[in-house]
Amino acid sequence: MRAVDIIIKKREKEALSREEIEFFIQGFVDGSVPDYQASAFAMAILLNGMTPHETTDLTIAMAGSGQTLDLRDVVDIAVDKHSSGGVGDKTSLAVLPMVAACGLPVGKMSGRGLGFSGGTLDKLESIPGYRVDLSTAEFKKQLKEKGIVLTGQSLDLAPADGKLYALRDVTGTVPSIPLIASSIMCKKIAAGAHAILLDVKTGLGAFMETLEDARVLANLMVDIGKLAGREVVALLSDMNQPLGNAVGNSLEVIEAVETLHGGGPQDFREHCLHVSAHMLVLGKRAKDLAEGRSMAEKAVADGSAFEKLRVLVQAQGGDVAYVDDVSKFPRAKFVDVVTAHRSGSISQIHARTVGEASVILGAGRAKKSDAVDHAVGILIHKKVGDKVASGEPLFTIHANDKAKLAEARQMTLTAHFFSDTDVSPLPLFYD
Ligand code: URA
Repeated sequence: MRAVDIIIKKREKEALSREEIEFFIQGFVDGSVPDYQASAFAMAILLNGMTPHETTDLTIAMAGSGQTLDLRDVVDIAVDKHSSGGVGDKTSLAVLPMVAACGLPVGKMSGRGLGFSGGTLDKLESIPGYRVDLSTAEFKKQLKEKGIVLTGQSLDLAPADGKLYALRDVTGTVPSIPLIASSIMCKKIAAGAHAILLDVKTGLGAFMETLEDARVLANLMVDIGKLAGREVVALLSDMNQPLGNAVGNSLEVIEAVETLHGGGPQDFREHCLHVSAHMLVLGKRAKDLAEGRSMAEKAVADGSAFEKLRVLVQAQGGDVAYVDDVSKFPRAKFVDVVTAHRSGSISQIHARTVGEASVILGAGRAKKSDAVDHAVGILIHKKVGDKVASGEPLFTIHANDKAKLAEARQMTLTAHFFSDTDVSPLPLFYD
């Protein structure tokens, strides 16, 4: 086999065999297929697509390109979740404790934020001492003993994906649905998931801006999961406006803690209960969604979900005093409440712009190597559909730098749109 023939075959819109895909991916990882051929391969896929079978073969080849985690000796069924990312998405911080409190052990490897989209590891690191670098042995031990783990990637999972993603980033080949689907699914499969709950975001602050694209991506990932022998459920959820009220690392941890105490913003609480219900069904702890939801609600009401968060923080070396008393989190130097300059109904809060404003403040990173400021961020006080009177608080900026505050304030203002007529709230889920 020759890599060039495989590229030509895809250029001519023919379907590739499993052997051809494996040959290409193995060669790419061992260096015998150079970057320029892998770039041409990615572009041919972007332009001509792949069938679900080809995409599954690509997923399995990338999942097998490095180390894999086998969790069968520590859990009966390994349920993982994945969010396609967005603004204010602190779901894992609340959902993992909820489902773990219901008797479903969950171990998850999360990532960092990049661009306007936040990352779970950055949020967790606002808790002093919290370790996100557990070894595989530590991961498995904690999962077995405590039933909850939330850390970074320890193994060299799916190195083919890391290498290919870096090329896609600089060759205009990121927005290919088969490439995105295989990239997400190969990491979940390599991380040992038996069942996967996918939270595919759609809207102004999501990878997939349109519902049609999000649906195609979600369906493809479900198909890949089925063909790979995994159980997969995909939810299509809204990311037109930020999820919940808080955007920024420690502000989001505080919101997750409030939610685990039964408070928190209504949209975020509802989102978490729905995701938890699906995970409990996938993990065979609940017979249906109604039972899963009521189990999660009970775990919040009786304090066991919050207790699981404490267990997690303590197990990973974090100072639990911060989640016990969230006023301990360092407050940014400048806290500026911005009021509405007019009355009306909120018709849009552009999620991507709010995310970009939080990056300006220092809550996120423009480049992978940038440091984040855990204290800064934005609290949204009104959501789409809410009525607001002139002079009422609209959002609060937490900043450590006056110039950045001014810039983020202006951006967040331009992210808000008003209507003189009533506006319906946005749905949380589309399907
Ligand atoms: N997330 C991934 O892991 N890979 C992609 O290609 C896009 C989003």
